[in-house]
Amino acid sequence: MGAMIAVLFGLLYAFSFAGAGTVHLVKRDPIPDFVLEKAPLSHLWSQESWWPSDVAVHLTHVEPQVNFTAVTTAVTFENISTLPSSVFLTAVPSDAVLTQPSWLTSADNTPEANGVSGAPATIICVEKPGGIIDAFYFYFYSFNAGGTVLGIEFDNHVGDWEHSMVRFVNGIPEFIYLSAHTGGTAYTYDTLNTTNGRATTYIAGGTHANYATPGPHFHDLPPPLLADQTDNGALWDVTANFRGYWFDNTTQTFHGAGGAGVGATEQANEGVGWLMFEGMWGDQQYPLLVNDQYCIFDQCHFTDGPTGPIAKNLGRNAVCQRETNCTVLTSLS
Ligand SMILES: *[C@@H]1O[C@H](CO)[C@@H](O)[C@H](O)[C@H]1NC(C)=O
Ligand SMILES: *[C@@H]1O[C@H](CO)[C@@H](O)[C@H](O)[C@H]1NC(C)=O
Ligand SMILES: *[C@@H]1O[C@H](CO)[C@@H](O)[C@H](O)[C@H]1NC(C)=O
Ligand SMILES: *[C@@H]1O[C@H](CO)[C@@H](O)[C@H](O)[C@H]1NC(C)=O
Ligand SMILES: *[C@@H]1O[C@H](CO)[C@@H](O)[C@H](O)[C@H]1NC(C)=O
Repeated sequence: MGAMIAVLFGLLYAFSFAGAGTVHLVKRDPIPDFVLEKAPLSHLWSQESWWPSDVAVHLTHVEPQVNFTAVTTAVTFENISTLPSSVFLTAVPSDAVLTQPSWLTSADNTPEANGVSGAPATIICVEKPGGIIDAFYFYFYSFNAGGTVLGIEFDNHVGDWEHSMVRFVNGIPEFIYLSAHTGGTAYTYDTLNTTNGRATTYIAGGTHANYATPGPHFHDLPPPLLADQTDNGALWDVTANFRGYWFDNTTQTFHGAGGAGVGATEQANEGVGWLMFEGMWGDQQYPLLVNDQYCIFDQCHFTDGPTGPIAKNLGRNAVCQRETNCTVLTSLS
């Protein structure tokens, strides 16, 4: 029986080579169990004011603009991938950043005591040579509050994509990368403290940068001038509610893998095209005075919205998003 299956596989393999020259992996399996069993468990900050958001809700509150001019009035999961990379998905009404409507703050999505948030996370798996599966756990927030220096707010923006990535080798979690601002930190997986066997991570208030330890963290200026704050606030278990996908690095295409909770229901009708959108998930940086914009030493009250998962180096070879000088830490201190 085993030999027969091996022969059949051999034939299929030969066939796939005969047709095309290059074999393209097409994954449609569910997200592997180990990716869920070893997914980080994350503490949001206890004083967080800008909670996880659902991309589906976000899309109903934005208008695609280029250079502050609408290119169409609305955007959907079906047609977002037709928009050019110059598009900023811009909050409406135009002063939403000042009025802070409930979809921006997303307080309804504060995780419950069991870790479930109403906002689905996005989990993307990428198979790589050497028995590797990189599992990207993407966290989306409709608003990023950058920080306050001497009472002055900086670097706020609509839309915020952050991620952690666990690199599995033959199903074993070997490394973890935690995104923070323009960089991030990589560790061996076993370096992190665990909760129920899963790496424990800490998400900073407002900026949503990810860390391996609770407490204040350096953020551009030395504390106490400016710091990312993390603590043992609400625990967010992304495996309870997520949209799941495979990304094929060879063809640069996404395939649905099914999810859990609200995310599973929603993704079934959405297609995968939205993940191909290369534009920005929030407003363009406003000119001075618009929406209370100011800039001091090149640091502005409001900055550009971020790009989405496709721009986060899903095909990376190193564990870090920026692969040059990627240092993997083996200690928390
Ligand atoms: C954006 O709009 C401004 C003001 O109308 C104009 O001066 C500028 O050339 C435009 N930029 C682009 C890239 O279209
Ligand atoms: C996307 O679809 C919506 C709803 O049908 C429509 O209003 C909008 O103009 C479309 N946008 C693009 C870019 O095709
Ligand atoms: C990790 O867990 C150990 C044992 O519970 C604890 O002493 C230590 O403070 C924790 N470290 C961090 C950074 O949370
Ligand atoms: C993913 O694709 C990019 C672009 O072709 C390539 O540079 C990179 O090495 C690939 N990554 C892996 C892990 O094969
Ligand atoms: C990488 O690290 C080396 C040694 O510390 C340094 O000389 C080099 O400038 C770094 N490269 C980048 C791109 O940061």
